[in-house]
Amino acid sequence: MPAQPTFDLVLFGATGDLAMRKLLPALFQRFVAKQFDDVSRVIGVSNMDYGREQFATLVEESVRRSVGGELDAQAWIRFAAQLDYVKVDARVDDDFVTLKRQLQGRGDAVRVFFLSTSPLLFVSICTGLAKHDLVTPKSRVVLEKPLGHDVASAQLINQQVAAVFSEEQIYRIDHYLGKETVQNLMALRFGNALFEPLWRRGQIRNVQITVAEEIGVEGRAQFYDQTGALRDMVQNHLLQLLCILAMEPPASSKPDDMRDEKLKILRALRPLAGKDVIERTVRGQYKAGAISGKPVIGYLEETGVPAGSTTETFVALKVEIDSWRWSGVPFYLRTGKRLQDQLAEIVVTFEDVPHVIFDSPSMERARNRLVMRLQPDEDITLTLLAKTPGEGMRLKPVNLGLDLSTKQQKNLDAYERLLMDVVKGNLTLFMRRDELDAAWRWIDPIRESWLQYDEPPKTYTAGSWGPAASSALISRDGLGWHDEL
Ligand code: BG6
Repeated sequence: MPAQPTFDLVLFGATGDLAMRKLLPALFQRFVAKQFDDVSRVIGVSNMDYGREQFATLVEESVRRSVGGELDAQAWIRFAAQLDYVKVDARVDDDFVTLKRQLQGRGDAVRVFFLSTSPLLFVSICTGLAKHDLVTPKSRVVLEKPLGHDVASAQLINQQVAAVFSEEQIYRIDHYLGKETVQNLMALRFGNALFEPLWRRGQIRNVQITVAEEIGVEGRAQFYDQTGALRDMVQNHLLQLLCILAMEPPASSKPDDMRDEKLKILRALRPLAGKDVIERTVRGQYKAGAISGKPVIGYLEETGVPAGSTTETFVALKVEIDSWRWSGVPFYLRTGKRLQDQLAEIVVTFEDVPHVIFDSPSMERARNRLVMRLQPDEDITLTLLAKTPGEGMRLKPVNLGLDLSTKQQKNLDAYERLLMDVVKGNLTLFMRRDELDAAWRWIDPIRESWLQYDEPPKTYTAGSWGPAASSALISRDGLGWHDEL
């Protein structure tokens, strides 16, 4: 019995950055982990005039880079034998005939169409697939972000894809949901009775979600300048993390039970619009500075960024969820490029003790905290107060740590997990259409208010933690960002 069903994974955009850097290396790793049977295939598709061999050489180079050491030659030879390539220009009808030939006689296999292309091509690809009868009952389509740039464009994409695939066949990917710590957050919340009574207003003082990157726009200026941090990171990754953290316990781990609960959070987000946007959001843009001691240029000097661009490379937000569980608990979200550290973490700070009987350090230091780190390392730490050894009753914060990186078993990269979930037909970690819609509905008014108030983003030096206004946003509530404490 094979670990997975036989599948054909047809990867559109196979020569693009995401495919080469993440998707194909992830598939190779899953192949090595024996998740492919002997007849499953990965079929790279792009509009480049490559032959199979040429494509395989490119993939080999990228897999070698991602392994960062010796590539298992035997494993590579076996993987390459299950790798194919077809040139398809999505706008050329005849090209789908060639693809059809490749898939002939394989109607029983699970068929995954992974669209790692510009969303502008989604419609032509889906229409081509339908017209040439390539969509079998066992077919699935995976949509990579950006899924639109506002509510209207996202709805249009959803509508057009829905004309070809049913909702159960559509996998809207957000790779943050595939990260190990996010899985562990669910395990922690719904596999233990311990936290549930504490997971609410009155017990939790505030929550911080930070996704900080040291990298800049990395040759993606054209895309990034049209997008900005709010749409590139908050609309999807940060809101999804917020949903997993804040959602009610679902009735089961079935996809729709989980997604129903996430949707309720998205719908309960207090709208940020008008003056609130000025008070509760900070937009920033990096200027020249240094990352790890090396000088780096500012956003406006990056190749491809138009002069005077006001696109934000940093955003911080104070968010509230209007529900019985969360009313009054602030959630601070923050993400940016060219920040001081490459790090993603969720920090849950619990309430103070109601009455202090010890001569303890400052209350700020004394607060219990649960820190869930997604990267660079994956771990969960609970900060408690304990007595220091020796005479007297002096307390100090100590960490209870849960190190998630086991020596015996390497954690799966997010894409490894998600790709195999698609093959298995598990939609739990993928966004449903109404979730996407709700996320955009909350994001759009923020951008509109930014435009209306026409304030340029605040600058910050590359290598810092963002504009000073970001610290001010949280310190107005008598708090500080986790790294500032
Ligand atoms: C992508 C964004 O979705 O996520 C990028 O488009 C960002 O701008 C990336 O760099 C971050 O992902 P990760 O997994 O490296 O944190």
